[in-house]
Amino acid sequence: MARILLTGGAGFIGSHTAVALIERGHDVVLFDNFENAERDVPARLARITGIVCPVIEADVRDEAAMAAAFALQPIDAVIHFAALKAVGESEREPLRYYDSNIIGTIRLLAAMQRAGVGRIVFSSSATVYGEPETCPIPETAKLQVSSIYGRTKLAVESLITDLERTKTLSAVAILRYFNPIGAHPSGLIGENPRGEPSNLMPYICQVARGIRPHLNVFGRDYPTPDGTGIRDFIHVMDLAEAHAAAVEHCLAQPGAFTLNLGTGQGVSVLDLVAAFERVNEVPIKLNVVARRPGDVAICYADPRLAKSMLGWQASRGVEEMCRDSWRWQTLYSQ
Ligand SMILES: NC(=O)c1ccc[n+]([C@@H]2O[C@H](COP(=O)([O-])OP(=O)(O)OC[C@H]3O[C@@H](n4cnc5c(N)ncnc54)[C@H](O)[C@@H]3O)[C@@H](O)[C@H]2O)c1
Repeated sequence: MARILLTGGAGFIGSHTAVALIERGHDVVLFDNFENAERDVPARLARITGIVCPVIEADVRDEAAMAAAFALQPIDAVIHFAALKAVGESEREPLRYYDSNIIGTIRLLAAMQRAGVGRIVFSSSATVYGEPETCPIPETAKLQVSSIYGRTKLAVESLITDLERTKTLSAVAILRYFNPIGAHPSGLIGENPRGEPSNLMPYICQVARGIRPHLNVFGRDYPTPDGTGIRDFIHVMDLAEAHAAAVEHCLAQPGAFTLNLGTGQGVSVLDLVAAFERVNEVPIKLNVVARRPGDVAICYADPRLAKSMLGWQASRGVEEMCRDSWRWQTLYSQ
């Protein structure tokens, strides 16, 4: 069993990954500046797992804090979630995004090198594929980013691949997520964006709760059966289990690999809304507006490589994703 440091470990995907790692017997250290996470997430994790994880509240760009984190306890591997993640915001605040996502990663890697920690799992995104030429998208597809956020992800992919090639790092896993939604079935942790959500499911939940009057559907004129965009929604617990498998692969053998994490199933925006209404018995008012610049028509993964390398595949369906998202929202809002 290993001790794994999770940067951004109190965030949406990090907190669920902490649960999956603890369930597999690993020790977890949470490192987060709580810029986009609630302070009670570690306590909620303790309620779910029965384990109190050490928490370091600091920024990955803070070299002294990073050094202290590695000095405090031996770390076998890092899963690097900490980043800013809103595509639109990255276009408005480019320096903030380059600083947090790229400089932050460089500081982390320098601290890892000084501490002799050579294994990293990195949160990348399907956004690196841009407008895909074919679907399902294999990992070998052409990379073409159209946003500053996407460029920060691609830059870090290159950076850590170079460090593995030059033996500064021993094992590197680059995980390209498709569209994570859902929540832990306890309803104790989930996605809780600050301000207006930029992702679909938190928006649906806020409409369901009456916080927002309607869901803006960005375009009904895409070349898809119902005219709305098609995405590959994946349950965050499936994603979390993939991280546990990926980090275990890094612990077992050196080398670098890149994997898509998706279900391989394309689901339209209207399909997702209909599933949410059906399983939760809550109506969602829609408002069709113009397409959003940069949004692609269809995007879903070819997830076969993850299955063959890690023995992992997503097992939870769209209805479970909708039910768990809503349970989290209703419990959280009480
Ligand atoms: N959620 C998605 O749809 C999605 C899709 C593809 C990739 N990703 C990537 O996955 C990772 C995790 O995403 P998430 O949805 O859990 O986001 P999140 O915002 O919930 O989690 C990120 C966490 O990192 C922390 N953080 C941010 N900057 C930091 C810094 N400089 N130092 C220390 N902590 C910092 C935040 O407080 C937060 O807890 C990100 O790298 C994101 O780009 C997310």
